Amino acid sequence: MKKTFGQKLLWRAWEIIGAVNVRVKIMGIVIGGTLLLSAALALQMRASVTRLMETQVQEQGVSIGRDLSARATDLILVNDLYALRQLLLETRANNPNVVYAFVLDPQGSVLAATFDEGFPAGLREVNEAGAQEHHHTVLLNTAQGYVWDIAVPIFNGQAGTARVGISYDIVQQTVLTLTSQALLTTLLILGLSLLAAAFLTFILTRPILELVAVTRAVAQGDFTPRVRRWADDEIGDLADAFNQMTAELARTDELRREREQLRRQLLEGIIAAQEEERRRISRELHDGTSQSLTSLMVGLKNLDTICDSPQVHAQAQDLRNVAGQVLEDVHDLAFQLRPAALDDLGLPAALEHLVNEWQNRHQIRADVVIHLGAERLPGSLETALYRIIQEALTNVARHAGAKNVSALVERRAREVVAVVEDDGLGFDSAHLNGSRLGVAGMRERAELLGGKLTIESAPGAGTSLFVQIPLPQTEGGAS
Ligand SMILES: Nc1ncnc2c1ncn2[C@@H]1O[C@H](COP(=O)(O)OP(=O)(O)OP(=O)(O)O)[C@@H](O)[C@H]1O
Ligand SMILES: [Mg+2]
Repeated sequence: MKKTFGQKLLWRAWEIIGAVNVRVKIMGIVIGGTLLLSAALALQMRASVTRLMETQVQEQGVSIGRDLSARATDLILVNDLYALRQLLLETRANNPNVVYAFVLDPQGSVLAATFDEGFPAGLREVNEAGAQEHHHTVLLNTAQGYVWDIAVPIFNGQAGTARVGISYDIVQQTVLTLTSQALLTTLLILGLSLLAAAFLTFILTRPILELVAVTRAVAQGDFTPRVRRWADDEIGDLADAFNQMTAELARTDELRREREQLRRQLLEGIIAAQEEERRRISRELHDGTSQSLTSLMVGLKNLDTICDSPQVHAQAQDLRNVAGQVLEDVHDLAFQLRPAALDDLGLPAALEHLVNEWQNRHQIRADVVIHLGAERLPGSLETALYRIIQEALTNVARHAGAKNVSALVERRAREVVAVVEDDGLGFDSAHLNGSRLGVAGMRERAELLGGKLTIESAPGAGTSLFVQIPLPQTEGGAS
């Protein structure tokens, strides 16, 4: 499903938020929460205070206007314009919010005003109280800032109109003062919240970080570290459960090791017993059966010389041929079971014999290169390498359909390496069938001696088999 731009943006934001660590997340929540709360409160307070102040200042203006109108009536009636101006000046002096005040006659002409530098043009016309109104207010944008111009009719308008200009400054200043105070308080609260959050985060994340470290150790197979129970909360319970699990894992691992050790010992025993048995049967065939067959052949030969009958001659010759064939078969069997060369002459001789015999039998070109030095390898290592190469060659003959095979055995500083390569059909080595024993047996033999076996093959690309087995280390160096 294709994502829309909005979904992609959300997903990206989620990825970024998800990637930061828990401490930053908690700090972010605290800072974001505090700032949002403070901003909401400040805006709300600003709006309320502005409304309240506006009402109050306007009411104050109206009451000043009314007072002025009441006191101006007599002065207008007696036409005492000097006293009227004094009244206006007094009104302005007593009320710091009053920017100006003036009185108009019913025709709209200025009778008296507080302006020292001439009456501002157009001011008279901007506000007028209607016939039924007690007062009328207009907000003006003047050179002195915003001013509420309040018109109050004098003697119901028959004696004129009193006009008072009330400054809007007081509202703005009060709101500004309150806002800056709120800002300061916000900063203070933010600082305190950050301190508290840092402390809380430390307390919260400390056990989690420890849990992460111990989990990593467990993942690497080290079951010894334990998580401390920092507090009696859910994280404490988690630590306990985790420790129980690690202890259980350690026990299971110990059991597994013991079983593995037992299995190896058993396998070693079986392999040793098998080799011993093969050696015994091979010797028996060689020393017992072969000798008896040779004696039989010598007897037949003697029979040939002491008897002149041509029929006996022919019969004896046939029997000698049969006995010769059986002797050859017995030799082959004895060799396959366990070549005497492996025990008597060492691995190189046994391998060369094996490869030559294999080449002749299967008619596949094979060459072998052996660099093992003069010193013989330990018996178990020789047997393992011999058996692995024997099985590898058997597999080539059975499965590969190869034309050429090469085998290499080499002693290195700390290990012996063997490689058997063929140019046959190859196979998918990643999906080796577990029910087959050949490869599994080769691997087992290598691993029992601390080594490893690798097969590189792909259909149509031939097969390469690598074996590495470490040399047992003696005090003086490699053995
Ligand atoms: N050199 C090779 N060329 C091609 N295929 C091979 C080669 N070596 C092994 N294989 C494949 O790997 C499989 C497993 O080999 P493995 O030796 O384990 O079993 P196997 O030879 O079939 O039977 P056994 O248990 O008697 O040895 C073989 O069946 C074969 O398909
Ligand atoms: Mg096999």
